[in-house]
Amino acid sequence: MSYVEEMFSLENVNAVITGGAGVLPSAMARVMLRAGARVSIWGRGTHHPVSDAVDALESETEAAGRVFGETIDTADETAVREALSRTEAAMGMPNLLVNGVGGNKGKSDFTEIDTETFSRVVEMNLLGGLVIPSKVFAARWKERDVKASIINLASMTSYVPLSGVWAYNAAKSAVKNLTEGAARELAPLIRVNAIAPGFFIGHQNKALLVANEETGELTERGRAIIDRTPFGRFGGMEDIEGATVFLASEKASGFVTGVTLPVDGGYLTDNI
Ligand SMILES: NC(=O)c1ccc[n+]([C@@H]2O[C@H](COP(=O)([O-])OP(=O)(O)OC[C@H]3O[C@@H](n4cnc5c(N)ncnc54)[C@H](O)[C@@H]3O)[C@@H](O)[C@H]2O)c1
Repeated sequence: MSYVEEMFSLENVNAVITGGAGVLPSAMARVMLRAGARVSIWGRGTHHPVSDAVDALESETEAAGRVFGETIDTADETAVREALSRTEAAMGMPNLLVNGVGGNKGKSDFTEIDTETFSRVVEMNLLGGLVIPSKVFAARWKERDVKASIINLASMTSYVPLSGVWAYNAAKSAVKNLTEGAARELAPLIRVNAIAPGFFIGHQNKALLVANEETGELTERGRAIIDRTPFGRFGGMEDIEGATVFLASEKASGFVTGVTLPVDGGYLTDNI
């Protein structure tokens, strides 16, 4: 193995990626498979069966026998515990959890917040999207003394609010906070980091950013985001790959914990 392969190989990684059929989580799954990991993608299967996503990943990455899947609601703690046992039986004990479940619904003035929608978004991003899988996995890892790591999905809203998406702002700023708190408590056995993607077109934000899919015309919000991003574009799936491999590789980032790494084309930079 060359020095670079040794540093970034994920051959010792057994990853569970929640929301694994989603746009960014499946890009993360692809690069992990290409770097040699075994991957189990966990999704609700609401829009596409998880088995289709498994087949697609297998054929795109030539990773036959290394891709597994679970149809599951990650907000259901008992179901998560059971799926972890099934996943362990299928591919060996996972040593990496990527919390890819999350997203936004609704946009309103503050005085018009719909509290039911607010609760649903917080539940999706914080309970199913982080707390429940992380507590179940971390408990199992501590019990068995497994050296492991967690990668959460934060957002630009973890740092600065986006207008009108109150629950998403609240949840994603909490993702950064929980990443830091859990990293302290779980060290040194378990590393906890996050990636904060800038703007990538996903299932749930497409309508907010793109006015016309055929022409690629943007909404006013989509245009404002591009204008604020020094790179002048949305993220492409390849942009998330390096950060994923870096944080997943124990050799490359074994002393890195509690970090939220922006991958944002400079969106967070500011000057006057
Ligand atoms: N796309 C972006 O620009 C962007 C930017 C910053 C952060 N993020 C974050 O990255 C993550 C993935 O985003 P995406 O754009 O790829 O979204 P996506 O909607 O394509 O993927 C999310 C997946 O999670 C699944 N899911 C939702 N709730 C679930 C549950 N309870 N149990 C199991 N599966 C569930 C959905 O079915 C979907 O397949 C989210 O946390 C999102 O907030 C995305």
